[in-house]
Amino acid sequence: MAADLSPIDKAKFAAARRAVDFVEDGMRVGLGTGSTAAWMVRCLGERIRDEGLQLIGVPTSTRTADLARQVGIKVVALDEAKWLDITIDGADEFDPDLNLVKGGGGALLQEKIVATASDQMIVITDASKEVNHLGAFPLPVEVVPFGWQVTRALIEELLDSMDVMGRQTSLRLNGQQPFVTDEGNYIVDLHLNRIGNPRQLALVLNQIPGVVENGLFIDICDKVIIGGTDGKVEIRD
Ligand code: 5RP
Repeated sequence: MAADLSPIDKAKFAAARRAVDFVEDGMRVGLGTGSTAAWMVRCLGERIRDEGLQLIGVPTSTRTADLARQVGIKVVALDEAKWLDITIDGADEFDPDLNLVKGGGGALLQEKIVATASDQMIVITDASKEVNHLGAFPLPVEVVPFGWQVTRALIEELLDSMDVMGRQTSLRLNGQQPFVTDEGNYIVDLHLNRIGNPRQLALVLNQIPGVVENGLFIDICDKVIIGGTDGKVEIRD
């Protein structure tokens, strides 16, 4: 599977390949979303085919569900699985405390629900996602379409009192139209550059009524597997 990959895909593949070693027979597995998570889904498919591995997958997006079915993973809804042994997902940033920014692919809500309903969350990334302070990557906030402009204004007002370096916000677009998540919501991206207190920001953002969830994953990730372009991996936990 790894033949002829670009250096970045080689790194993502290396992290994904190592992460699926943590999946054991009979496990209920949360399947993340994004290009790195897609490698993990393919690697799981390979283990099912080659080793007869048995597992149940709970995808975090329709994209991932489609891919999982294609590679032979039995897909069920979270409510059917009830609780998961492990979730493996990508991230847009991770810091030294293994706090994350996620949602670059717009799947943060299902990703957070699924990761929170898991005994452990493993994040797979390449080295470019490692930061000392979260915030260089725009922080996605999922908002309900009803009154979204008011919600955005309330977010901006809140940011005035937060320890952040930037305060711009933008509605995520899909062409000329708002990007719509799998849950039918919009995403407002916050361009903060540096988040001084991610834990506090995550809490107060969710107190705004129109906010459904934000892309800060605090104390959720247990392990980060960093793939290198040389195919080696490093594990942080
Ligand atoms: C999707 C996510 C992804 O995990 C994140 O954007 C990383 O994606 P990629 O592996 O393609 O860089 O949070 O909502």
